[in-house]
Amino acid sequence: MLFKQQVWLRQKLLVLGSLAVGSLLYLVARVGSLDRLQPICPIEGRLGGARGPAEFPLRALQFKRGLLHEFRKNNASKEQVRLHDLVQQLPKAIIIGVRKGGTRALLEMLNLHPAVVKASQEIHFFDNDENYAKGIEWYRKKMPFSYPQQITIEKSPAYFITEEVPERIYKMNSSIKLLIIVREPTTRAISDYTQVLEGKERKNKTYYKFEKLAIDPNTCEVNTKYKAVRTSIYTKHLERWLKYFPIEQFHIVDGDRLIMEPLPELQLVEKFLNLPPRISQYNLYFNATRGFYCLRFNIIFNKCLAGSKGRIHPEVDPSVITKLRKFFHPFNQKFYQITGRTLNWP
Ligand code: A3P
Repeated sequence: MLFKQQVWLRQKLLVLGSLAVGSLLYLVARVGSLDRLQPICPIEGRLGGARGPAEFPLRALQFKRGLLHEFRKNNASKEQVRLHDLVQQLPKAIIIGVRKGGTRALLEMLNLHPAVVKASQEIHFFDNDENYAKGIEWYRKKMPFSYPQQITIEKSPAYFITEEVPERIYKMNSSIKLLIIVREPTTRAISDYTQVLEGKERKNKTYYKFEKLAIDPNTCEVNTKYKAVRTSIYTKHLERWLKYFPIEQFHIVDGDRLIMEPLPELQLVEKFLNLPPRISQYNLYFNATRGFYCLRFNIIFNKCLAGSKGRIHPEVDPSVITKLRKFFHPFNQKFYQITGRTLNWP
């Protein structure tokens, strides 16, 4: 009887043991394959710095993201963060605008790159006097934690059109890289209007029609006092920036192309930022329900932008569109000439 029990116990232990070993082997194989399947590779070259690529594996980055999450929830100690060399760095590149150009999509897509860490919120340090008065340390403390080899990017689209911002950014870092994402000016103006309209509707307020705002009813000319129109005169704003920064420090992103065909636009940005090419087609997939490209970080994590990105625009009188396009035309030509990027807008 005792012998039978011993045999039964041994068999049971054997089964449990093989199950445990099997699971362990499966896990090891799975983690390994995750790294192999993962197209976001370790950083190399310039960004590798003192730490070689082999010491900067994907899993370290995933761990870092997890740790930062815990840190934000106050579950990770400052000591843990310090031990992992994480620092809050001032941005090496800023998406300065343009509002409704696709600034959020650009930031999120660049964040797919393992060497890029995004500041999730718009910080509004340089355009808001109250924030600016808090000083550069306040700004740095708003930045996400990153490894020294990584670069931090923030976006605040109001920077592009705010008078004081170029000088303030120049004072922080005169060699900073500046990204401007633009869309066809009339479409951008309508997108801008749509956002404001949605805000008004949410508050149960009535609002003027786009046509009424964009065209001066007295002169029947384009109303240049209307902010959505003024913001779309890109060359006027850029000229102010050029008093502080040479054109080589700017990179123009075609926001209309970023919607239709994001990868080539992102590859141009990688080049401009001197980053090794790491964002691939794998990281971007078209979501038919959203009608936009969405982001794939790895086989588990993917995300689309919030519903507030990609609103349906109201219908606008075609004669108003024609008038606006004619109005923007000479400014666009100048913009192409200054930036060296022709965008074939109508
Ligand atoms: P619309 O809402 O007019 O379509 P911003 O982030 O600067 O506010 O820009 C918003 C715009 O980003 C949206 O304008 C949308 O067209 C554009 N966009 C570009 N790529 C997108 C993406 N993958 N998902 C959602 N919106 C995207």
